[in-house]
Amino acid sequence: NSHAVIFSGIQPTGVPHLGNYLGAIKNWVDLQYTSSPKDVLIYSIVGWHALTLPQDPAQLRNAKLETAASLLALGIDPKRSILFHQDEVSEHLSLSWILTCMTPMGKLKRMTTWKSKLVTVRNANVESEVDDSMLNLGLFSYPVLQAADILAYQTTHVPVGEDQLQHLELCRDLAELFNKRHQKNQQKPFFTLPQAILTPCPRILSFRDPTQKMSKSSPNASSRITLVDSPEVIRKIIRSAVTDSTSGITYDPLNRPGISNLLTILGSFRSLRSSEELSSLASEYTGKGTANLKEDVADAIVEGWRRPRSEFERLREDKDYLVTVLEEGRQRAESISRKTLNQVKSLIGL
Ligand code: ADP
Ligand code: NA
Repeated sequence: NSHAVIFSGIQPTGVPHLGNYLGAIKNWVDLQYTSSPKDVLIYSIVGWHALTLPQDPAQLRNAKLETAASLLALGIDPKRSILFHQDEVSEHLSLSWILTCMTPMGKLKRMTTWKSKLVTVRNANVESEVDDSMLNLGLFSYPVLQAADILAYQTTHVPVGEDQLQHLELCRDLAELFNKRHQKNQQKPFFTLPQAILTPCPRILSFRDPTQKMSKSSPNASSRITLVDSPEVIRKIIRSAVTDSTSGITYDPLNRPGISNLLTILGSFRSLRSSEELSSLASEYTGKGTANLKEDVADAIVEGWRRPRSEFERLREDKDYLVTVLEEGRQRAESISRKTLNQVKSLIGL
């Protein structure tokens, strides 16, 4: 009677953009219907991770609420999934410290995300020079906290993007190291080794510069669409999306990133994902122009997000409801992770 435990986390960065939705959140939502009812789904808003970059307290508090409201509005069902704030469950930190004390420094130095985080810090501080004080120890060791997030629930599956595979590998290494050190005779290994569920959606690109990914950190607001954008704003941004001067609509991500990005978005809302499906979607536009495609893309986003957007506006004002749902999630998450931590502490002699 084995069941899967699926765990994933998202930063409390507030209202999501289309890339966050199609690249991460939509997959969480879909798993609620594609998984077996016995499987446990655990989705966390990872406040402890947010501290690795400089945060304004009032903004962070607000972003935690808006992230929770967004996830619920976009279809996370708190009856089916455990939705909680990671920073409200201290087991994550306890396990993180235990794993930290087993992590070879060299392994962390090899994480390539460390380098991309440096770029994020630099971009957030374009005015000032990046000095050592911005490069805190948490930023360096957060993959260990991520491993703790996952292992605290004896997770079997982690939905991740390709860029996170390296971290999942570290998580598995640490689990194996722990298992080897604390193997008791013929007993089965203590930690489950989690597997990746690779995110099926390709990167969503910036509408201003389709050589870049859509990102909340871009200073140009018309490079992205967010959950709170009105239908008028959505139509305006899509109409002015940068494409190319080749005529006709073809799916060719390498040579025609702008057009292909529009097809990817339209396809995602229709659950078409493979390049074959997207090429055949492109062929529906034979004899039509970019303007037709853009109109359909805008319609898909406006229609697809109509209900979630009004749900978000409603939930955002219903703080009591959010607090109740997140408290229920916290209790469920804590009861699972506490069990793991009690066993871990006993195994290591604490
Ligand atoms: P941002 O890059 O805007 O700061 P985050 O790094 O907070 O977004 O990402 C949150 C989640 O959304 C991650 O799972 C990430 O892989 C996904 N994501 C972010 N941007 C995109 C994008 N442009 N296309 C697809 N997925 C994305
Ligand atoms: Na990012």
